Amino acid sequence: MSQFNLTIFGGTGDLSYRKLMPAMYNLYIKKELPEDFMITAIGRREYTSEDYHKIVEPWITEFAQVKVKDQALEQFFTHIHYFRMDFTDLSLYQLLDDYYEKNPTSNHVVYYAVSPEFFNVITDGFSSLKNIHEPKIVLEKPFGATLSSAKVLSEKLERLFGKDHVYRIDHYLGKEMVRNILTIREANLLFANVWNKENIDSVEISALEEVGVETRGNYYDHAGALKDMVQNHLLQIMSIVAVDDPHGDINTQQLEVLRHLRPLDQVDIKDTLLKGQYEGYRQEMHIDPASKTETFAALKLFIDTDRWQGVPFYIRTGKKMERREIVVKITFKSLRDDVDPDVLVIKIQPTEGVYLEFNIKTPGEDSITKAQMDFCQNCNLIFKLNTPEAYERMLHACMDGDGSWFSKWELIERSWQYIDTLKQMYIDADLPIYTYPQGSLGPKEADQLYTKK
Ligand code: BG6
Repeated sequence: MSQFNLTIFGGTGDLSYRKLMPAMYNLYIKKELPEDFMITAIGRREYTSEDYHKIVEPWITEFAQVKVKDQALEQFFTHIHYFRMDFTDLSLYQLLDDYYEKNPTSNHVVYYAVSPEFFNVITDGFSSLKNIHEPKIVLEKPFGATLSSAKVLSEKLERLFGKDHVYRIDHYLGKEMVRNILTIREANLLFANVWNKENIDSVEISALEEVGVETRGNYYDHAGALKDMVQNHLLQIMSIVAVDDPHGDINTQQLEVLRHLRPLDQVDIKDTLLKGQYEGYRQEMHIDPASKTETFAALKLFIDTDRWQGVPFYIRTGKKMERREIVVKITFKSLRDDVDPDVLVIKIQPTEGVYLEFNIKTPGEDSITKAQMDFCQNCNLIFKLNTPEAYERMLHACMDGDGSWFSKWELIERSWQYIDTLKQMYIDADLPIYTYPQGSLGPKEADQLYTKK
């Protein structure tokens, strides 16, 4: 009996090639997998396991964090089995059951690395198997085409496999510096006592990407930046920054933050959201030539709690931007009119680190000048090597049954509702989608959101 089996539905998909296989290889090299583990990659294509190994090899070589060595890779491949199957055909699940009978495991993680339209049929097929024991089911956004279908699926998964056995991944929660936000706040007197409206002027969360929509037009043109980045990753970050008690249960705390987002019937949509689209987007592959999908979104949100009342949280994300960068910037209040505010920047990627800007005396003069301290965590090779990739960390957590950094359904539902309503308000108000040049910082009109208090 193996000690761990990762079954991947969608073994021949982009997610498996780019993220899951390289992450498993990293874990293998770091000796974080049990000796007796298996990966079962399920796909529809006519491959043998050997064919599959040849296909994943260049992906692992390109994307694994650790340097790939031929011998180690060969050893790693002895653990990977390709299982050919059309997973939409329920009559074929018996064969999968037979396979598990011959290859039993004590710890089963099942990854739905396919688009959400297949989640239901896989759930039906997989839950009918006899030779699986308490599997943990891992799935990623989008969890369904609509909120109601996602809710039905979620209830079904929880009913069939158990609430604690459903792992909804947001890979941003696996990023080292996202996890560091709470530590930086609560382990430093410097920040712990000033994390509130009395001392913080604004919070900016910015996620800029250089890449465009690439080959994912079919999906992206329906999702847009709001659903692709804001509803999940950026509201996750925002709610982590804003939790009331950094020591409390993270999911419960985050949900409380989202529950206190200013009710949308109390906001003016034009001061809350601005959408943009990069020039040339409509000519990209699989994109509607008249598409109104946003590739950029800027938001100004408020959290109506004692801690945050009146503090704007600015969120900005876009594709085809000037640079790739994710940061959280906390601007403190100015002590006096003649000094600049202190600024703390938590750098999430590609640089991982912390930047602090504060005031000192100008050397040799009486005036005040800015000092800048810039700590780069991933410039240190040891730190860099010790930092697991997001997927590596999340897969390891699933293997260990640690669900603490996975999203509970209520959190997803809340952010989904909020973003759906915002989107609808934008349409109802007939607000424009501003175009912006590729390689810029988005539409210049977005700056207006930032200037109005
Ligand atoms: C994904 C989005 O969830 O996150 C992509 O679907 C986006 O559109 C990606 O590019 C960004 O992730 P990362 O880890 O590269 O910041």
